[in-house]
Amino acid sequence: MRIVMLGCGGFIGSHLLDRLLPLGGVEIHGWDLDFSKIEKHLANPSLNLRQDSVSSSYALQEIEKEVEQADVVLNLVAICNPADYNTRPLEVIDASLFDIYPIVELCAKHKKWLISFSTSEVYGRTVASYLPQAGYQDLSLYELNEDETPLIMGPVHNQRWTYACAKQMTERLIYAHHKENGMPFTIVRPLNFFGPRMDYIPGRDGDGVPRVLACFMTALLDNKPMQLVDGGQARRTIVSIHEAVDAICLMLEKPEKSQNQIFHIGNPYNEVTVAELAELMRQTYAKITGDSSFKDHPIISTSAQEFYGEGYEDCDRRMPNISKAKHLLGWDPKISLPDVLFETMSYYHEKYAKSLSKASC
Ligand code: UGA
Repeated sequence: MRIVMLGCGGFIGSHLLDRLLPLGGVEIHGWDLDFSKIEKHLANPSLNLRQDSVSSSYALQEIEKEVEQADVVLNLVAICNPADYNTRPLEVIDASLFDIYPIVELCAKHKKWLISFSTSEVYGRTVASYLPQAGYQDLSLYELNEDETPLIMGPVHNQRWTYACAKQMTERLIYAHHKENGMPFTIVRPLNFFGPRMDYIPGRDGDGVPRVLACFMTALLDNKPMQLVDGGQARRTIVSIHEAVDAICLMLEKPEKSQNQIFHIGNPYNEVTVAELAELMRQTYAKITGDSSFKDHPIISTSAQEFYGEGYEDCDRRMPNISKAKHLLGWDPKISLPDVLFETMSYYHEKYAKSLSKASC
């Protein structure tokens, strides 16, 4: 199978390469700017890598040659960190919409199967979030269904929604090319994939505010308080990256089931509030380090304005209905949240243990 993989060096791409390359029988043409997460694959003869942005006209010419020969094109390109959505909105919109649209057009022109990674953020906020608390007692007001749930975003000055909106437009362009030009597609809406390599740790291999796992991990590593934005009442469901990769492999194996569908890839059995996540992470870290004082690691509350700046608004709840992935792909995630956290946090602990402030004092 010939695969063009755009954004192959990121968290998801790196885990996909780990899985696909050892299988044999695959030829992967990968594009990314940073290969630090895929160093172990650099010499693999089945991987043809290009270290370039996908948006230049030269890159597009090269990508077109690869697309013509490909069985499938996987789009994993995005700036997918909420701290960027209201602070670098133009780059966020470019990366998810304007840089990708020419690729969608290439796939349409050559009638190639495009598997595009979108986001659960396209739903914005749930209907229940606009109603009194009782709204959450009615599953139909907050459960997300790929082909039925409306996509509800806040006002334009809340730039949190730049990413969601750009991804939504890309989904609509893909769908329009399918309907008008017969382009086969699959849209994946990931719901909080967790695992090794998922994010950077500020002050060590990046700067700024990463996503919640890395924020809490940094707090534990640096002996600083974990910060709950607006009390940590938002809810997320968390799925292991390994089971997410299982789902993508099933899509590749079963094009007759996965083409022309939108899929949630998430684990509805692993739902937590962000406050519960902080609690679980400090318990898990106590287990990993053998230092029970982490069970009482300080947790404080902060406002969204203080933490993210102007224009942030939160997705209240993301409860995926995954019956489509279950029935069409035979995929049903099983790895529990404590196990996902143990693996992910152990990875960060191993990688950064030497700079642990607690251990060094
Ligand atoms: C992000 C992306 O925007 C999605 O596209 C993507 O699908 C998703 O991550 C993902 O990883 O799959 P989100 O879940 O909102 O969405 O990102 P996080 O930064 O991980 O935030 C989760 C929650 O934790 C939010 O309520 C946030 O306010 C809160 N948070 C974050 C804290 O309370 N404290 C922190 O230190 C960091």
